[in-house]
Amino acid sequence: MEHKGTKILETERLLLRPWREADAQEAFDNWMNDPEVTRYLTWAPHGSVNVTRFLLREWERQSREADCYHWAMVLRKTGELIGDISIMHADAYQESGTVGYCMGRAWWGRGLMTEAFREVLRYCFEEVGFERVTGGHAAENIGSSRVMEKCGLRREGLRRAHFRLLTGPRVDIVDRGILREEYFADKAINRENYSNPTK
Ligand SMILES: CC(C)(COP(=O)(O)OP(=O)(O)OC[C@H]1O[C@@H](n2cnc3c(N)ncnc32)[C@H](O)[C@@H]1OP(=O)(O)O)[C@@H](O)C(=O)NCCC(=O)NCCS
Repeated sequence: MEHKGTKILETERLLLRPWREADAQEAFDNWMNDPEVTRYLTWAPHGSVNVTRFLLREWERQSREADCYHWAMVLRKTGELIGDISIMHADAYQESGTVGYCMGRAWWGRGLMTEAFREVLRYCFEEVGFERVTGGHAAENIGSSRVMEKCGLRREGLRRAHFRLLTGPRVDIVDRGILREEYFADKAINRENYSNPTK
């Protein structure tokens, strides 16, 4: 595999594009300061837009690197910035990486993250040449579990009481993954699902 970086991607409803520092206020307002969104994440609500701006300045710099796969999610119809999706730890020798995503509450439950992740998987397997994409989520994070399931990530294991939420409780982490051949096999079987993100 040869790194291709954060190429601009499009789906029916979404534009996936590199992050810019200028996105800070909208990202802060739409999800980065929302404790409901960060409940299962490794970071706390930002508290101040200055934190968001500092972070996004760094993300904008990283987005020019070939091994960075990190997209801002924009609703094509309205131009609103609604979420974030990335393939972390993308490694050209291992030919693998790990998905991470989050989105503003106002847009949950419409199949949007499934749509974004399917397109990112298509890019990773069909254009970049990944062999494996992994993901992990708190066992009780049903929304994330469904997104990964719908995108074909198999359950590979359970790390018991592995992660302590920033709010205190320890949770089990479900490990998931999809291999290159599984991606193409799923695509051949479920071709219609790939054009209908609500399924
Ligand atoms: C997880 C998240 C990205 C899902 O995005 P989304 O666009 O709402 O996901 P989709 O609409 O594509 O799919 C969600 C699925 O989970 C289901 N779901 C969501 N919450 C649920 C709950 N509490 N109980 C049962 N099902 C639930 C939805 O019904 C849907 O399933 P379906 O398609 O079978 O009906 C979004 O909720 C989010 O940003 N959460 C906060 C950040 C986060 O937890 N990130 C993941 C860390 S691993």
